[in-house]
Amino acid sequence: MEGAGAGWPEPVVRVQSLSESGAATIPGRYVKPEAERPSSAAPAAGPGGATAEGIPVVDLSSPGDPATARAVSEACRDWGFFQAVNHGVPPELLRRARGVWRGFFRQPMEVKQRYANSPATYEGYGSRLGVEKGAVLDWGDYYFLHVRPPRLFDPDKWPHLPPDLRETTEEYSREVAALCGRLMTAMSVGLGAGPSRLQEAFGGAEGAGVCVRVNYYPRCPQPELTLGLSSHSDPGGMTVLLADDRVRGLQVRRRGAWVTVDPVPGAFIVNVGDQIQVLTNATYRSVEHRVMVNAAEERLSVALFYNPRSDLPLAPLPELVSPERPSLYSPMTFDEYRLFIRSKGPRGKSQVESLKAAAVGAAR
Ligand code: OGA
Ligand code: NI
Repeated sequence: MEGAGAGWPEPVVRVQSLSESGAATIPGRYVKPEAERPSSAAPAAGPGGATAEGIPVVDLSSPGDPATARAVSEACRDWGFFQAVNHGVPPELLRRARGVWRGFFRQPMEVKQRYANSPATYEGYGSRLGVEKGAVLDWGDYYFLHVRPPRLFDPDKWPHLPPDLRETTEEYSREVAALCGRLMTAMSVGLGAGPSRLQEAFGGAEGAGVCVRVNYYPRCPQPELTLGLSSHSDPGGMTVLLADDRVRGLQVRRRGAWVTVDPVPGAFIVNVGDQIQVLTNATYRSVEHRVMVNAAEERLSVALFYNPRSDLPLAPLPELVSPERPSLYSPMTFDEYRLFIRSKGPRGKSQVESLKAAAVGAAR
């Protein structure tokens, strides 16, 4: 289909093409309202305005240790984000995963366009999140894939080039999903629950969903006016992000300010998604984050989303609900839940907050 194309409200423009056109200014539809621009970051804590504080770093070399569960749990309660070191995924695989996806985004535009996505499933090569006509867009292209469950795995949606992309992405996903399993155990133990409690609530390891979103943020001539990805919380269970090894950009909301993440070489950035916030009755928090772009260098990140089985209505675990701590959220399946971000685009924490209003309303 020509024109708007495949269900998008407007013709799709690749941010990479805009960037490579060499224009000195960005089109108006990428210009964020003043309050959302990166320069509007609230003054950071501490003298001189600089924050020395960064997201916690958690050593996973003994994933079964109570001390590891405590450290993971503390980070999920306090920050909703941490960097995982000694995570067990070989550094060489991280290098290959970045390499094949850089290779994909370097393919000629007509090759990439064969995988143009639609809002029906979002699988493939995309340049926007949300289908609202006239929305202000983010300065980034991406590639989105379902890896699991097997019924959602569609080889036609996977790039054929570079030749080692598929095998590498499958191997990468297997290893990182296994890491998510270890993290689920640590998170569960850190709640005072049995080691498999959270995983069971997800519908078991076999039922869990795994999606990969590779984000490509091209160089931007006016980075102070836009964002690579607007503020959002991740809708799924948890996210394991392989950030760019050279270029910073991710910022995490902390007490109203934006904290820029300084990735530890070889680490993953792990964050709690909305579904774990719901299941833990907000003991663990999904936290808003966003991405800044820059004029000098492009940036690539690989996000793996580990999600609950999508047809289970999820609500707080009964053992985390008490008269003193009533259930904050009404039940919803992840299939229903993810329609929000897929139609409205990234909107801070407004969705999980709206579930809360519903639960409070239902209690009245
Ligand atoms: C995401 C995300 C951060 C980044 O894909 O949900 O938050 O640094 N990515 O690209
Ligand atoms: Ni995110």
